[in-house]
Amino acid sequence: MPKTLDSTPDAIDRVSPVAEIDAPPAHPAGASSGATAVARAEKITVVTIAAKYRRGEPISMLTAYDYPMARLVDQAGVDIILVGDSLAMVVLGHADTLSVTMDEMLHHARAVRRGAERAFLVGDMPFMSYQADAHEAVRNAGRFLQEAGMAAVKLEGGRAVARTVRAIARAGIPVQGHIGLAPQSVHAMGGFKVQGRTQLAATRLLDDALALEAAGCFSIVLEGIPDRLAAYITARLHIPTIGIGAGAGVSGQVLVLHDILGLSSRQRPRFAAQYADLGAAIRDAATTYHDDVTHRRFPTHSHAYSMPDEEWAEFCRLNDGDRMKG
Ligand code: KIV
Repeated sequence: MPKTLDSTPDAIDRVSPVAEIDAPPAHPAGASSGATAVARAEKITVVTIAAKYRRGEPISMLTAYDYPMARLVDQAGVDIILVGDSLAMVVLGHADTLSVTMDEMLHHARAVRRGAERAFLVGDMPFMSYQADAHEAVRNAGRFLQEAGMAAVKLEGGRAVARTVRAIARAGIPVQGHIGLAPQSVHAMGGFKVQGRTQLAATRLLDDALALEAAGCFSIVLEGIPDRLAAYITARLHIPTIGIGAGAGVSGQVLVLHDILGLSSRQRPRFAAQYADLGAAIRDAATTYHDDVTHRRFPTHSHAYSMPDEEWAEFCRLNDGDRMKG
């Protein structure tokens, strides 16, 4: 019975909560090509990011939504972990990002915080947590820091949210802007479409970027815009731009973790490189497990717990005695 198992000393071998960073990889073939895991390194802050930007070093950013993934991404040395509202689509199975709530974002942000020791952590402000009222926006931004241990927040929009960005930044909360393809405006954009392809739209995006910088953003995500426009905006700013579908002329790159791992059920966008096919690996593993259980190949003796012979003999004696009495 599981309860009895949990109380045996053997049960402690199930999970080891200690850091396994120095342990050899469980599956050496899964090691990435030449990538070096960061064992112990300095905590990344806004100051570190600004310094990297000034040195012209690319800044890496990835999303994560839970403890194990945050731990691995952190160990890989990624500079910024974004608890993105893409959570709604890639983890919670919604068609867009609109329905994820503040409480759901905080729940996942807390898990990420527990997994990440070193990366700079950004909480993505979900739809309607900042649009209606600047005071409410400051309070919600504060919740990401106070209740989930994030170091900064990100929000979508340009000039329209500049006042809100200023208010949050004045509260001492680093803010990352996000312009171009803004998924929370999917209905206003008429779908997930590349932005800034006309002279007028490009000019508006430049104005948005300048307004966000003036309002106090420490960085701006440029999503789904032509590469030369992204490079131009980057050259006009004095804060780092982080591109996603914005070409190479930006200060850093961000991608959705599930896209790069092959875990996304949505069609992978053209800009999202895939670095692993964990979807296939997980499906294969689950299929093999199912077959092993079905054909009684699992569990084997090595997966079972033992009991001292004398205890078993006593158990049988008492129970056989009971049976005889019955
Ligand atoms: O929610 C998210 O994952 C994002 C990134 C795509 C920038 O906003």
